[in-house]
Amino acid sequence: MDYFGELYYRCFKTKLEERAEEETRRAIELMDKPKTVLDVGCGWGRHLHYLLNWGIDAWGIEPNPFFVEVFRERYPMWKDRIIQTTLQDAYVFKQFGAVLSLWTSIGWDESASAEESLFDKFSQFLLPGGQLLIDVDNLQGWQAHFCKRWWERVEGGYVLDKHDLRGNILTTNRLFLLGDSQYNVRRQLKLYSLDELQNMAEDHELFLKMAYRDLTGNPFQKESARIVAVFEKISAA
Ligand SMILES: C[S@@+](CC[C@H](N)C(=O)[O-])C[C@H]1O[C@@H](n2cnc3c(N)ncnc32)[C@H](O)[C@@H]1O
Repeated sequence: MDYFGELYYRCFKTKLEERAEEETRRAIELMDKPKTVLDVGCGWGRHLHYLLNWGIDAWGIEPNPFFVEVFRERYPMWKDRIIQTTLQDAYVFKQFGAVLSLWTSIGWDESASAEESLFDKFSQFLLPGGQLLIDVDNLQGWQAHFCKRWWERVEGGYVLDKHDLRGNILTTNRLFLLGDSQYNVRRQLKLYSLDELQNMAEDHELFLKMAYRDLTGNPFQKESARIVAVFEKISAA
């Protein structure tokens, strides 16, 4: 069973959707209210549909077929606004005023060179002067406050996570306890520090503008749980 898909949607949908409108509004404010937005790794479009509702020319990229199907079923009028692909394989059909990567949508690709293609595509999708907002787990936050076990109540039951951090690789064994049914899934996530993100971005004309610890715009600290980094594309020409 995949980490993302039907079970993830069923259990986390309510929690994640409760805060989606506020997150979308804050992300837009941190990027100076762009008119065109690409949401990379948009999941089932919990932010994308707000962007579209607010009249922003918004598109989403998402590789998971289940999430893409959910978006198309829930929002048939915008079914063409979500493109089923990874960012690396995406065709650059347009350049945007802003690119969003919300709630850890990078770090899932195992190949060592994945970031090179991800940041290359982030940059290609941006207009000169456009902004990239990346919201990810913070490697240094995990190192400072490592949490070996975590459980939480979700829709229909409980989720128990067991974490293992080796270098920058976080492995999670997740147990879903849903009534009489139990399911196990495993994930591997590559974690980044702000310095690493900055170095990778600079190789692709993306320069750090501001770093926050969350979408509310609180200042970033080295051991924050999350990094919300805003980059601007500064082209030489
Ligand atoms: C934690 S979910 C966040 C989804 C969405 N941004 C949200 O906040 O609801 C991470 C998403 O990134 C997607 N993803 C993973 N690798 C990707 C890649 N190479 N290109 C684009 N999306 C990717 C996953 O399929 C998943 O939907």
